[in-house]
Amino acid sequence: MQTTITGLGSYLPEKILTNADLEKMVDTSNEWIIERTGVSERRILSKEESSSTMGAEAALAAIRAADISVKSIDLIIVATCSPDGMFPSTANRIQAIIGAKNAVCFDINSACNGFLSGLIVGNSLINSKQYNNALIIGSEALSRLVDWSDRNTCVLFGDGAGAVILEKSKNDAFGIVDFQFGSDGNNGDLLFATGPGSIKNELVKEAKIIMDGQNVFKHAVNTMSAVTKDLLKQTNLTIEDIDLCIPHQANIRILNAIAKNLSIDEGAMFSNVNKYGNTSAASIPIALTEAFYANMLNEGDTLLFTAFGAGLNWGSVILNWGQINKPEK
Ligand code: COA
Repeated sequence: MQTTITGLGSYLPEKILTNADLEKMVDTSNEWIIERTGVSERRILSKEESSSTMGAEAALAAIRAADISVKSIDLIIVATCSPDGMFPSTANRIQAIIGAKNAVCFDINSACNGFLSGLIVGNSLINSKQYNNALIIGSEALSRLVDWSDRNTCVLFGDGAGAVILEKSKNDAFGIVDFQFGSDGNNGDLLFATGPGSIKNELVKEAKIIMDGQNVFKHAVNTMSAVTKDLLKQTNLTIEDIDLCIPHQANIRILNAIAKNLSIDEGAMFSNVNKYGNTSAASIPIALTEAFYANMLNEGDTLLFTAFGAGLNWGSVILNWGQINKPEK
C-alpha cells in the first residue's frame, strides 16, 4: 500500500529581516551573507506567535487543500526543534487550536531532518492499518534560539511552518516510493542548542544555537549526497528519473555542491533559501508548497527530498506526485 500527500500548505510570518537589517546588528555585510549562504532575507515571528500558532496556520491550509474535515484527522505529528515549551507537545497544542479532537498527537525532534522523519513515521503508522491519515507539520521559531550577537549563526536561520496531509493512496502509481535515513550522535556537538533542558541536573535557561560551520557544511554535503545515492540504488532509479529535488534549504552553496555531486540539473533543484533562510524542519514543506503553487509539480513526477541537520541526522525520500486540487485562496 502507498501513502500519498493529498493536501499541503505553509505559513510565513509577516516580518522580514533583511541583510541590511543584520548589518546594523552585527559586523557583517549583505555581500558576505549572499556569497556564503545565498540568503537575502528571512521571516521573524511576532511576539504573539509561536511554533504552534504558525503550525496551526499551515495545518489549516493543508486541510483545506485536502478537502477533509478537521475531525477526521487521525494523527498529528509535528517536527520541531523550537517547540512552544518542553511539554505538552506542539502537536497537542496545534490539536487544540484547530479542533482535531480525534487525533493522536506527538512531536519529533530530528532538527532539520524532522519533517522527513515525520513523513516516514506517518507513512508507517498508516501502513500499520490503525490510522487512515496523518497531518505532518514542520514548524520552527528559530529566531527565539538564535544568538543575535553571533554573526556566525544569526545570518542563517528564519521562522515558518509547512504542513501536509498524508493518506492512503487511491492509485498505487502515486505516493511514497522509499526512504533512507542515518544518524551520528558522536558528532552532535557540531551543531546544538543550549537549554532549556535537564543537562547537568539543572535547567539551562539561556537558549543559543552553537555551530561549527565549516564541519557542518562538509557533513551536510557528504551525507545528503551519499544517502541519496544509496536510495537511488535501493529503488533502481537514476538521477535522470528525478523530476524535481526539494532539499532542506540550508545554504545555497550546500545545495549547489549536492547538485554537482549528484549531477542534478540546475532546473531540477528547488531553492527558496534566498527568501526564508534555513527554517529547519519547516523548510521542505514550505518549499514543497511553494513549488506546488508555482505549478512546478506535475502528476506522475518523481520527487526527491533530502535533508540534514543537528543530531547529526539525515535522510532522503522519493515520492511519485499525484496531483491535488488547488483550493480557492
Ligand atoms: N559576516 C561576515 N563575516 C563573517 C560572518 C558574517 N556573518 N560569519 C563569519 N564570518 C567570518 C569569520 O569570522 C571568518 O573570519 P576570519 O577569517 O577573520 O576568522 C570568515 O568569515 C570565514 O569564516 P568561515 O566560518 O570559514 O566561513 P565559511 O565560508 O565556512 O562560511 C558559514 C560560514 C556558516 C556560512 C558556512 O560554514 C556554512 O554555511 N556552514 C553550514 C551551516 C549550516 O547550513 N547549518 C545548518 C545545517 S542544517
